[in-house]
Amino acid sequence: MTSATGDSLEPIERASRDELAALQLARLKWSLRHAYDNVAFYRAKCVAVGVHPDELRQLDDLARFPFTTKDDLRQSYPYAHLAVPLKDVVRMHASSGTTGKASAVGYSRADIETWSHLMARSIRAAGGGPNDIIHVAYGYGLFTGGLGAHYGGETLGATVIPVSGGQTERQVQLIVDFKPTIIMVTPSYLLVIADEMEHQGVDPRSTSLRLGVLGAEPWSERMRSEVEARLGIDALDIYGLSELMGPGVAQECRETKDGLHIWEDHFYPEIVAPESGVVLADGDAGEIVFTSLTKEATPVIRYRTRDLTRLLPGTARPMRRMAKVHARSDDMLIIRGVNLFPSQIEELILRDTRFASVYLIEVRREHHLDVLTVQTELKPGVTGDTAARSLAHSIKSLTGISAEVRLMASGSIARSAGKAKRVNDLRPKD
Ligand code: DLL
Repeated sequence: MTSATGDSLEPIERASRDELAALQLARLKWSLRHAYDNVAFYRAKCVAVGVHPDELRQLDDLARFPFTTKDDLRQSYPYAHLAVPLKDVVRMHASSGTTGKASAVGYSRADIETWSHLMARSIRAAGGGPNDIIHVAYGYGLFTGGLGAHYGGETLGATVIPVSGGQTERQVQLIVDFKPTIIMVTPSYLLVIADEMEHQGVDPRSTSLRLGVLGAEPWSERMRSEVEARLGIDALDIYGLSELMGPGVAQECRETKDGLHIWEDHFYPEIVAPESGVVLADGDAGEIVFTSLTKEATPVIRYRTRDLTRLLPGTARPMRRMAKVHARSDDMLIIRGVNLFPSQIEELILRDTRFASVYLIEVRREHHLDVLTVQTELKPGVTGDTAARSLAHSIKSLTGISAEVRLMASGSIARSAGKAKRVNDLRPKD
């Protein structure tokens, strides 16, 4: 097996910070100019605040440029934000918007090459190489997970098994038959596959898998420990979003497993305060905002991801790291005035070994009051309602909110073959 040794790194993965910054500045000037000259809404936004791409002299000047939001991209759906003629676009993807219209992304041939290259770099950083067999269980289609992993695996020279999501019994069969060494899938669905292995009498630790490149949804360190222990693999985090490209924007390196290195030669990160939009210092917690540096078809300038994290100095690579994304600013529930992130509930559930790692948070309004219910399941063979009481108690002491914990029949909480749905907010939208 090949792993990421010093001499297999690309020159930019060994560059100094100064070299990287010089490349970023040159590329940033190009990208701003490209968006301004070719996309009407970027030009209009810049004109509205009185800035011009020529005014960017250093990287920090980017803070003077306007943000782009998901709504901006929705309004230009499907083609109005393209910076190249449609005839030069070789593929479209679209984001999995849960509400309203999706946002669409176009790729020129060079964009697909860059993406494939960055995905190959990501898999290599995770510890994969050309001798690996990669089972891709991210969905194929408009979602970027499947095709992104697929092209990256092929570019790396690995053998790709394009399984896509769903049909869990068949996932297990294909893992047994094709003997993949790497699986690329959402962490929540990997645990569903592990349950199915047990159901079929296959020991999840006994398979050929050695590495998981997992992402597309928030997952905690505790979830990592659970995945690694149950499947006997290394579990590495991969991050990305359709608006920017897809998976492969940032990747955790196997040698350090300490957060995700952002491929800063292609994406320029900033952290801003979610409410005010003010740029924060490295190390401060806030929302990560990205500007694409090389994208041709759909450049994005200061895109508000809503993902909450921190920027940290590089370790295994000169590129800065982002801490694991534990939540999105728009995920936050406000229950009777108290802020609650689904990840806080997840942490409590995974800490108690009696629970299966599935849950659904439901919020209703009864007599003008918010009512929080947490549905979860006990692991097969575990009995007793003291688990429910102790979970309700921990939620109360952590957050101050009283929750009803409902133990559901084993297997009754819907499992997703992609991103897990954790919250059902049934309150009237007023
Ligand atoms: O989820 C791209 C992707 C596919 C990433 C496969 C990794 C693996 P979207 O459907 O546009 O794209 O969703 C992007 O998912 O803004 C985050 O909120 C969340 N997300 C993605 N990766 C992670 C991660 C793909 N590693 C949105 N940790 C992002 C936490 C993640 N959240």
